[in-house]
Amino acid sequence: MARKMLIAGNWKMNGLSAEGIALATEIKTAVKAKKRTCEFLVCPPFTMLSTVKKALRGTKVALGAQDCHFNEKGAHTGDVSPLMLIDSGCSYVILGHSERRADHGESNELVCKKAIAANKAGLKAIICIGETLEQRDRGETVDVCKNQVLGSVPDDATALNTVIAYEPVWAIGTGKTPTAEDVEEVHAQVRKVLAKKLGKTQANKMRILYGGSVKPSNAKEFLSLPDVDGALIGGASLKSADFMAIADNASC
Ligand code: 13P
Repeated sequence: MARKMLIAGNWKMNGLSAEGIALATEIKTAVKAKKRTCEFLVCPPFTMLSTVKKALRGTKVALGAQDCHFNEKGAHTGDVSPLMLIDSGCSYVILGHSERRADHGESNELVCKKAIAANKAGLKAIICIGETLEQRDRGETVDVCKNQVLGSVPDDATALNTVIAYEPVWAIGTGKTPTAEDVEEVHAQVRKVLAKKLGKTQANKMRILYGGSVKPSNAKEFLSLPDVDGALIGGASLKSADFMAIADNASC
C-alpha cells in the first residue's frame, strides 16, 4: 500500500513575520530544487499564516495551523475557526497536540469535535496521540495510544481528511527517542485500531506520522519503518537545512 510520505513542520510559538518569510522562502527554494516524492507541510503560528502562504506561492508546500475551534463563528474570544483557517490558505490543522492537551486541558472528546468541524470545513486534521513517561514506565503505551485514537478520531474519518501523529510526550524537545522497534510496534497497533474503527481500506491508506526529536541523523531510521508515513517535526523544522535534510535522508 503506497502512502505518500508527509514531512510536516510544527513551528509552535516561534518566529515573527520576517523569520517566517525567510524560513518559508528557503523551504520553497529547496523543495523546488529537485524532484520529491513526499508532501511538505509547514504549520506556523496563526499570526503568520497569510504571510507564509504568500511566501510559499508557486510551490506545493502546504500550509497548516496548530489548532482550531469546533464552531464556525461566534463569541469565542481568542479562538480561530476552521473556515478562518481555510480563508488564510490552510489545508491542514494539527489537533490534540500533547502541548495543547497539557496546557489547555484538551480531552479526546474535544479533539474529536474539532476534527469533525475541521473536516466539515475542508481541512485535513492531523490528530496527535502519545504517552507520557509515567504511562510508558507503567507499560501502558499501546493502550493509551489506542484509547486516544478511539476517542479523538471521528467515526467517519477517512485517509483523505485525517492523518495520525504518534508523538511520545517524553520525546518532544528532549533529544530522546523510542527505539525504531518501539515506534513500529505503536504504529502497527494504531493501524489495527484504525482498521477496527474505520475499516481496513481507510486504515491501510491513512498516514501515521512519527514525531518527537526527529532530526536529520535519525530520520532514515524512523521513516523507513513500514508503518511510518512521515514526520511531525518541531525544533528541527525551524532550520530549513535540517528540515530538508530530514526529507533527503529519508530519500523522499
Ligand atoms: P520536537 O521535534 O522539537 O521534539 O517536537 C516534536 C513535536 O512536538 C512536533 O509536533
